[in-house]
Amino acid sequence: MNKKKSSILIAGGGSTYTPSLVIMLLEGQERFPVRKIKFYDNDAERQAVLAEACQIIISERAPEIEFEYSTDPAEAFSDVDIVMAQLRVGKYAMREQDEKIPFKHNVVGQETCGPGGLAYGLRSIGPVLELVDYMEKYSPDAWLLNYSNPAAVVAEATRRFRSNSKIINICDMPVCLEDIMARVIGLKDRKDFETTYFGLNHFGWWTSIKDHDGNDLMPNISAHVKEYGYTEQTQQGQHKESSWLETMWAAKELHEIEPKYLPNTYLKYYLMADSTVAHANKNYTRANEIIDGREKYVFEECRRIVANGTAKDTTFASNEHASFITDLACALTFNTKERMILIVENNGAIANFAPDAMVELPCLVGKDGYEVLSIGEIPTFQKGLMEQQIASEKLAVDAWEQGSYQKLWQSFTMNKTVPSAKVAKEILDDMLVVNEPYWPKLS
Ligand code: NAD
Ligand code: G6P
Ligand code: MN
Repeated sequence: MNKKKSSILIAGGGSTYTPSLVIMLLEGQERFPVRKIKFYDNDAERQAVLAEACQIIISERAPEIEFEYSTDPAEAFSDVDIVMAQLRVGKYAMREQDEKIPFKHNVVGQETCGPGGLAYGLRSIGPVLELVDYMEKYSPDAWLLNYSNPAAVVAEATRRFRSNSKIINICDMPVCLEDIMARVIGLKDRKDFETTYFGLNHFGWWTSIKDHDGNDLMPNISAHVKEYGYTEQTQQGQHKESSWLETMWAAKELHEIEPKYLPNTYLKYYLMADSTVAHANKNYTRANEIIDGREKYVFEECRRIVANGTAKDTTFASNEHASFITDLACALTFNTKERMILIVENNGAIANFAPDAMVELPCLVGKDGYEVLSIGEIPTFQKGLMEQQIASEKLAVDAWEQGSYQKLWQSFTMNKTVPSAKVAKEILDDMLVVNEPYWPKLS
């Protein structure tokens, strides 16, 4: 029997991650055949630069694959099997605000953590729900796989407002860290072992890592993390710039606080907030690094490809971000039952945690979606931290839903990165001004 060929829509076609995703889809043809690749974005000019380059890449490597791009939802969302979403609402200009405003008040300024992440959440909810609605109108059988950040807040919103929709929220940090863990103990990649992990998005721990014969690999990985954090001797992998290396080093300290488990790097922003703020360059944040680095590189490389009329010598390559979402699309399409870490409703999987919390857990993925694996009870330290964080995320979604200033103030105050209600209010008042075009009206 011929294998099904899928039609893929990349929503946020103008994303810096788009070329690596296209290359991954082209390289994965045997495992996950594709008949059509489409892009959708609300910024025609930005998307066109990437689209013209990707058109050349596709025509050189797989001319049989159809390619289209559009800013029109009807055109973009018709005849689609899988939507891969990676919106950045407000783009890098707003990421810069999310980072710099909290820093001004000596609070962690970060894309997805603390007040910056919550502010970004209030921008992302509406546009991601809009994608779900377009998909259901024009391709009702399709799945939406969402990377758009902050994935935790977006996931709480899709749980509440689109509970019957075929949407799966995901994060690439666990797979990126698992690839590092594999390499530091001499294995090829994450597929060489099976892991158990629990937590929230950008807020979790590995409790078990075993090879396929059931041998425990945690002691060896833990020995590396105790000495080097998640730093390693290779340039392989997505997170290798100097600011990321600092974060990879921080895992060493995070592991000391909880030596039984291995930490997600993002715990740094909650458990090491003081040193993060102390060491940050508050005038030149990660957004600035990307504007001058990844974004510049991606757009220049696209323009070079178009000017030369060929992508034969391109430096674009697939990465973990691309392989993870393609693995997920493949599991849904071909019922592979692959074990993957997803952001899902708890529903008892963590026995002593709220059933209506969006948590990050291992799942088995097949044609009908995912089955969440049971974790049992979690310890008091992790449970307490997670309860505070989930309350902060839920209050942010309440604020969006009710247009409530008070709820957003409480959300910021609840966050472990924020020292007091007073500081929360000062940050919120600064953020209100710059987010006015994106947030619901708060009163
Ligand atoms: P980017 O700014 O380069 O791309 C985002 C694109 O989204 C832009 O082209 C923008 O025009 C478009 N966009 C914004 N609002 C839109 C809307 N309402 N409708 C349609 N298109 C819209 O950003 P990037 O750095 O490539 O990241 C893309 C997204 O992926 C971000 O949200 C980022 O946080 C997220 N991301 C998530 C993970 C994860 O682990 N979940 C990993 C990597 C990136
Ligand atoms: C990881 C996280 C993503 C986040 C990204 C930021 O991959 O899982 O959620 O968006 O890092 O990376 P950047 O290079 O944009 O700072
Ligand atoms: Mn993530």
